[in-house]
Amino acid sequence: MAEDKALIKVNGKEIELPLVKGTEEEIGIDISSLRSASGGVVTLDPGYKNTGATESAITFLDGDKGILSYRGYSIEELAEKSNFVEVQYLLLNGELPNKTQYEAFEKRLTEHSLVHEDMKKFFDGYPSHSHPMGQLGSMICALSAFYPNSLDPNRPESDREKSMMRLLAKMPTIVAMIYKNYMGHPYIYPNNSLGYVENFMNMTFGMPTQDTEIDPVIVDAMDKLLILHADHEQNCSTSTVRMVGSSHANLYASVSSGISALWGPLHGGANQKVLEMLDMIIADGGNIEKYVAKAKDKDDPFKLFGFGHRVYKNFDPRARIIKKASDNVLGKLGINDPALDVAKKLEAIALEDDYFVSRKLYPNVDFYSGIIYKAMGFPTQMFTVLFALGRLPGWIAQWKEMRDTKQPIGRPRQIYTGQNARPFVEMSKR
Ligand code: CMC
Repeated sequence: MAEDKALIKVNGKEIELPLVKGTEEEIGIDISSLRSASGGVVTLDPGYKNTGATESAITFLDGDKGILSYRGYSIEELAEKSNFVEVQYLLLNGELPNKTQYEAFEKRLTEHSLVHEDMKKFFDGYPSHSHPMGQLGSMICALSAFYPNSLDPNRPESDREKSMMRLLAKMPTIVAMIYKNYMGHPYIYPNNSLGYVENFMNMTFGMPTQDTEIDPVIVDAMDKLLILHADHEQNCSTSTVRMVGSSHANLYASVSSGISALWGPLHGGANQKVLEMLDMIIADGGNIEKYVAKAKDKDDPFKLFGFGHRVYKNFDPRARIIKKASDNVLGKLGINDPALDVAKKLEAIALEDDYFVSRKLYPNVDFYSGIIYKAMGFPTQMFTVLFALGRLPGWIAQWKEMRDTKQPIGRPRQIYTGQNARPFVEMSKR
C-alpha cells in the first residue's frame, strides 16, 4: 500500500482510498469513491465526530494544542493587535487590508448600514419580550425580500459582494433595533462618523434625548469579543450555513439558518444558559459543590453550561482571553459581580475533579463572555445575538468559499433501520 493511501476491506474486497493532507499536516481519508467501489457501502458517523465535511482555507483549529487561527494569524495576536473590521476583511479576502483597502472597506460598511424603514414594522408583530434570536433569524431572512436580486445564484460577482457588504453593515443596526424593541426604547439611526463597533454600541445604548458617549473600555471589550467569535471552522451553525447555501439558497436565508443553529443551548445559546446557571447557584445560596455533583449525575439533566467542547480537549484559547478581559472590564468599570466569583470558583473546582479532568472538559468561549455582556448592560436574552454578530463574517466567508469552490449540494446518506416493505392495510382493518 502506498503511504498516501488508506486500505479498507469491505465484504472481503480491498479498497484503496487516497489520503488528503492539509497545510497543518492534518490527514483525512478521501472516501468519495467508497460507495461506488464497494457496491453501495457508506460511512456512518453520527454528529460528524470523525468526518471532515470540506477542505477550507479560512480557519485552523487544533483542539489538543488549543490553537485557533484565522487565515494563519493566531487568535491571541488578532485579539491584541487587530480590530473587528480588519478581521472581517481578513476572513472574507484572505489577507489583512492595507490602509487604502481598510478605509474603502470601512466606508462601504457605513454606506449600507441603514435598513429599509418598513423593517421597523416587523417589530409590531412580535410579542413583547419574545426571544431576540427568533427575531434576528427572521429579520435577516427578511432582507432577501428587500433585495430580491440576491435570489439569483448566478448574478455577477459584484452584486454578490454587495449582498455580503449589506449584510455585514446592516447586522449591527438590526441587532440594536432588537435591543431597543426589547427595552421599549426608540430606535437610534446609524451614525456614519462612528466606527463599526462604536456605532453599534451607540445605536444600542444611545438615547435621542441626550448625547451619549460610550465608554471606550466597553467599545474595546466588545471589539475583542467580536474578534474572538468571528469564525470557528466547521461548527454546527457554520456547517448549517454551508449546507443551506449548497442548495444555492441566497446568502440571507443561509445565514438565517445559521442563526437558528447557533440559538441552541449546546452551541451559542450556552452563553445565556451560563449566566442563568450562575444566577441560579447564587440564588440557591452559592452551593457550588451541589451543582458540580448534579452535572456529574447521569440521571440529572443538569450540565455545566460553558464547559466542554467537541474539538478543544486541552483548553479553549478564546476562554483564556475572555477570562482575562472580564477581570479587566469589570475592574475598569468598577463592577463587582458575584457571578464572576462563582464562575471562578466553579472553574477551579471542576478543573480538579476527576469527572471533568478525565473527560477533558474545560471552560469554553461561553463561560465568561456573558459576564462581560452583563457588565456592558445587555439583558441575558441578548447574549446569543451578540455571538451571532461576531460570527457573521465567518459565516459569510465560509458561504463564499463554499460557492467559489463549487461544492455540490450537501446530501448525506443514512442507514435505514425502519420497517421492510409491507402491504398497505385498509383503515377498517387496523
Ligand atoms: N457538563 C457535564 N458533563 C459534560 C459536559 C458538561 N458541560 N460536557 C460534556 N460532558 C460529558 C458528557 O456527558 C459525556 O460523558 P460520558 O462520556 O460519561 O457519556 C462526555 O462529557 C463527553 O461529552 P459529549 O456530550 O459526548 O461531547 P460532545 O462533543 O458531543 O459535546 C458539547 C460537546 C459542547 C455539546 C458539550 O460539552 C456540552 O453540552 N457542553 C455544555 C454546553 C456548552 O457550553 N456549549 C458551548 C460550546 S462552545 C461554543 C460554541 O462554539 O458552540
